[in-house]
Amino acid sequence: MSNHPPGKRKKSLNHSRKPAKIKGEDPSSYLLRILLSSVPYYVSGTILAQKLKMSRVGIWSRIDKLRKSGIKIEAYQNLGYRIVHEPNKLNFWLLSARLANSSSKLKSLHLHESIDSTNSEAERLLANQTATPFAVAANRQINGRGRLGRKWHSPKNGNIYLSIAFRPEVEISRLKTFTLWQGIMICDFLRQQLQTDKIFVKWPNDLFFKDKKIGGILTEASIDGDRINSLILGIGLNLNSSLSDYPKELKDDCQTLLEIHGRQVRVNEYASKIIETILMAYKDCLHDKTSTYLLEKWRGVDFLCGKKIKFTHDNSSYTGKAMGIDAEGNLEIKLRNGKKKFLHSGEVQIQK
Ligand code: BTN
Repeated sequence: MSNHPPGKRKKSLNHSRKPAKIKGEDPSSYLLRILLSSVPYYVSGTILAQKLKMSRVGIWSRIDKLRKSGIKIEAYQNLGYRIVHEPNKLNFWLLSARLANSSSKLKSLHLHESIDSTNSEAERLLANQTATPFAVAANRQINGRGRLGRKWHSPKNGNIYLSIAFRPEVEISRLKTFTLWQGIMICDFLRQQLQTDKIFVKWPNDLFFKDKKIGGILTEASIDGDRINSLILGIGLNLNSSLSDYPKELKDDCQTLLEIHGRQVRVNEYASKIIETILMAYKDCLHDKTSTYLLEKWRGVDFLCGKKIKFTHDNSSYTGKAMGIDAEGNLEIKLRNGKKKFLHSGEVQIQK
């Protein structure tokens, strides 16, 4: 469950160890950051009032607002406040508080209960000149989009549907391995978080647990000549939904973290860390820090390497063995006749 550990009645942690306010930070985000950094201890109303430079009534009314947003905050006389439960859905305040500290900053965060597609909303915001980088997230998508014109089934609450938009204004060649690098970094994050090495990337951008898909990445770019004007990285991750939320035709091939671990993960913690991961990985690509490590890192997460695969290319069907990627991110395949083929886009299937 996303519940926090049982409360400690001990007086809260020392005042000076509480996080400092960040310039321009919203008071509710700061208040939440203090409470999050103190879990499972209580923080007294007096300390909160001092840190936020407001009255205890002011603190109470902000706590009330946070509670109404779905965060369970317990209040105890003489002890103060503490978080006991986070909602199993994306919450604007929990995301903002967790992101306030990160070194790479978003210009804005747009959270929706339900939307057609976060990638489509990001496109609309880009068209309205919204400053980048910004993130669009939703608790449900009505028309979630996958690669190759497919639908992305997006049941409500507990999963991540997220898009981050950038305006890189660099040559296309600079970002040719952008999606692969993002996949590697997100896979690394999930492995660390879940303490497993069973998470992989299936070329080019599917996230797998063992042999089932748990997430996917959809990158969309607007290009002008040989330059990329804008770029949207959309990620869908099956966290806390149960397989019964998925249609029959998907059940055999997909998986959720809830089904794997038998318990819910904190969706806001995952989403904020994934946003940070994506922002950092974007910087790596922009400053060309990826080429030295790409092949080595890819080998560590490559789902297909050494497996027999089949695919269609230029209307012909092929079978062969996946051999990893080249420096440009193309998939290298050794065909049955011994010849090599390099794929730069599309999809391959495991030959059963
Ligand atoms: C795929 O594996 O086909 C890619 C799936 C990408 C899904 C995400 S969910 C958030 C964002 N909004 C969308 O409509 N699609 C991406």
